[in-house]
Amino acid sequence: MQQLFPGEVFAKTADFDAGIRQLLPRYDEMLEVISRCVPLSCDRILELGCGTGELSLKILQRCPQAQVVALDYSPRMLEYAQNKIAAAGYANRWSGIEADFGDWANNPEKFGIGREFTACVSSLAIHHLQDEMKFQLFQQIAASLSSDGCFWNADPTLPESPLLVEVYQAAREEWAAQQGKTLAEVRAKVGTSSTQGYSSQDQLATLNAHLQMLTNAGFETVAVPWKYYGLAVFGGWLRKL
Ligand SMILES: C[S@@+](CC[C@H](N)C(=O)[O-])C[C@H]1O[C@@H](n2cnc3c(N)ncnc32)[C@H](O)[C@@H]1O
Repeated sequence: MQQLFPGEVFAKTADFDAGIRQLLPRYDEMLEVISRCVPLSCDRILELGCGTGELSLKILQRCPQAQVVALDYSPRMLEYAQNKIAAAGYANRWSGIEADFGDWANNPEKFGIGREFTACVSSLAIHHLQDEMKFQLFQQIAASLSSDGCFWNADPTLPESPLLVEVYQAAREEWAAQQGKTLAEVRAKVGTSSTQGYSSQDQLATLNAHLQMLTNAGFETVAVPWKYYGLAVFGGWLRKL
């Protein structure tokens, strides 16, 4: 069986958009929160781990001046995203770059994408990095934003207590059942991945650990605009608000 890159999730890329909505509760709501936290007037936006382009699309629809630079290390996901964005008529406001965002965090000059982004966004991707690299990435994001810039990330987080593991799991089981599937049925379409570049299987950290890393990386205002059991949208602004 073909080995996937961590984060590609489904053996067939074409299964991702429907599958992720069965696998994870409130996926659309979660991405919607990120797109609402990005200022409407945003011009330059960096997306890390764009996958099939669902978050890019929501942002392009909402922010009329946004130019999105989207990084993903998977050529399959990037191609899928590129076709989707072009079909929606946004090809001139979106550029996909095949790159490992861990590599970008360590060697940003290699990629020639510049700095002064007004926002950086990511969903369901950064949790594949080890904590040390998450922190390195947050520092590089801080260095790549304009002074009024913001960063928003949606990711699964480590349950705050072992007592919550089953609670969070039950929420996912119930969600899948509401979509007419069992988690086992959805997971049958999930492929197997091995370490690729800086990413490996889930490397979850608690929400508090993420917020601490953001503060240490230079974000003066950190916030959690959305949380649903073990999923959260968190981030903030470089400046104090
Ligand atoms: C679960 S998908 C999420 C895609 C999209 N953001 C969404 O919410 O639908 C994670 C994506 O992150 C990408 N990814 C994971 N680790 C990466 C890395 N180190 N560098 C670049 N892309 C990465 C994977 O290829 C995949 O497309």
